[in-house]
Amino acid sequence: MSVAVELRHISKRFPGVIANKDVSMSVETGTVHALVGENGAGKSTVMKILYGMQRPDGGEILVNGKAVHFKNPNDAIEASIGMVHQHFMLADNFTVLENIILGSEPKHGITIDFKAARKKVVEMAAQYGLEIDPDVLVEELGVGQRQRVEILKVLYRGARILIFDEPTAVLVPQEVDDLFNALQGLRAEGMAIIFISHKLDEVLRVADDVTVVRAGSTVAEVKSKDVTARQLAELMVGSELPQPTTHGDTRRPEVTLALKDVSIPTKSGSRDLISHVTFNLHAGEVIGIAGVEGNGQAELVEAIMGLREYTGAIEFSGQNMDRLSVANRRDLGIGLIPEDRQRQAMMMESPLWENRILGHQRGKPVMRGFVLDKKTTIADTRAIMAEFDVRAPGPQTLATALSGGNQQKFIVGREMSKAPSLLVASHPTRGVDVGAQGAIWEELRRAREKGMAILLISADLEELIGMSDRLLVMLRGAITLEIGDPTKTSPEQLGSAMTGAL
Ligand SMILES: Nc1ncnc2c1ncn2[C@@H]1O[C@H](COP(=O)(O)OP(=O)(O)OP(=O)(O)O)[C@@H](O)[C@H]1O
Ligand SMILES: [Mg+2]
Repeated sequence: MSVAVELRHISKRFPGVIANKDVSMSVETGTVHALVGENGAGKSTVMKILYGMQRPDGGEILVNGKAVHFKNPNDAIEASIGMVHQHFMLADNFTVLENIILGSEPKHGITIDFKAARKKVVEMAAQYGLEIDPDVLVEELGVGQRQRVEILKVLYRGARILIFDEPTAVLVPQEVDDLFNALQGLRAEGMAIIFISHKLDEVLRVADDVTVVRAGSTVAEVKSKDVTARQLAELMVGSELPQPTTHGDTRRPEVTLALKDVSIPTKSGSRDLISHVTFNLHAGEVIGIAGVEGNGQAELVEAIMGLREYTGAIEFSGQNMDRLSVANRRDLGIGLIPEDRQRQAMMMESPLWENRILGHQRGKPVMRGFVLDKKTTIADTRAIMAEFDVRAPGPQTLATALSGGNQQKFIVGREMSKAPSLLVASHPTRGVDVGAQGAIWEELRRAREKGMAILLISADLEELIGMSDRLLVMLRGAITLEIGDPTKTSPEQLGSAMTGAL
């Protein structure tokens, strides 16, 4: 077998941080090669370097045996490297076909030869099991389908070396299976695939080889058949795998959150985005919402937070909240970990201490009377960073300079710091490493014991099953199933219920 990509002793520093100290890895053609490591270990950085988005300070990159020096992603694409980004970069109001060929339109005379392009796309899609309707608008697609478009786009540009940065974080089990099947097809075609994930069981399922990085340096390169998930975790962090479990019943009689026949009708009058949702969430209870992304979970959260109009009634500790603003609702003691951390929970170009204020503009520790108390806010930011192990130089660091998992840890810490009586948590451990996952689960467990009510929305079915006292399955905006004892269900059964197969 030949080596498709070789990274030798890559180093990269940012002001105050060494992102890559000494990363080496060797990826053979016709293999899937996983890259794992703690949050902030330097995985995304080294992949951005390989894709020409960032320049290394030192080290060498060889593609098919030849040294390369990329100035930008176009150079990398030219060298047949493609990257499937975690935050999809598609144009919503264009069709699938248009998105795929955007930027690399085949020319026929002076007009775009759509016919030829379409033929090629349809053939490629069929070949790799990435079937998709080329004429549908991207805005109508779910996450899994959007990812297909991203992959096809990369393949269309002739990529033979494909980088996937946490592709499965947003997918449900069935979609993960589809993706892995496609990866196997690409691998059989002799492509080289680099795959970043924090889900170690997944890594072992799909990858041939695994490179482990720790604090910016490669610490191991192993064959996946030679290691267990536990051993991988130990290589990464030097500790055991945490489990998402809660114990005993901590449910109290008081109802913290009550939804009474809540619906969100669409303007056009077609199907409701949320349809007649009713449930009581008690203090000390965790209710998990299971559903394929796009089945009303996001709208449910928006209704509870007062970000969207609804019919029916929502009560917090017996008080009707229907007329309250978002800020008023937060003041009552509601914390929110939103789904899209970069858009809804952070100002990426601002320092962490300013991000500490976001959503917490009122009261202590941020305000002293009507004045912003900068000193206390900074001290408090530092305390959150310490408690939640947010790895960054300090409160003055810009949010954008944090690795994905560290951003998530910061948001969880900020929301928990006010000890809310209700926490609405969308994908609280998305993108965080095994160690940090364990820490977040532990925080949620402790808060639950103290009587916090938690509404948990997650695509990680093991997390949903393990952490929840009760599960509600949402399909097309309605609650279609209640599971009173989640320990009696498996991720596969739950997955089927989510797609309506049960
Ligand atoms: N543009 C930047 N400016 C400053 N520091 C950065 C920048 N990008 C990354 N870093 C820092 O470099 C280190 C490595 O970050 P990177 O994003 O590569 O980690 P990662 O392994 O992908 O982590 P995660 O699993 O959390 O996504 C982190 O300490 C991060 O804060
Ligand atoms: Mg990353």
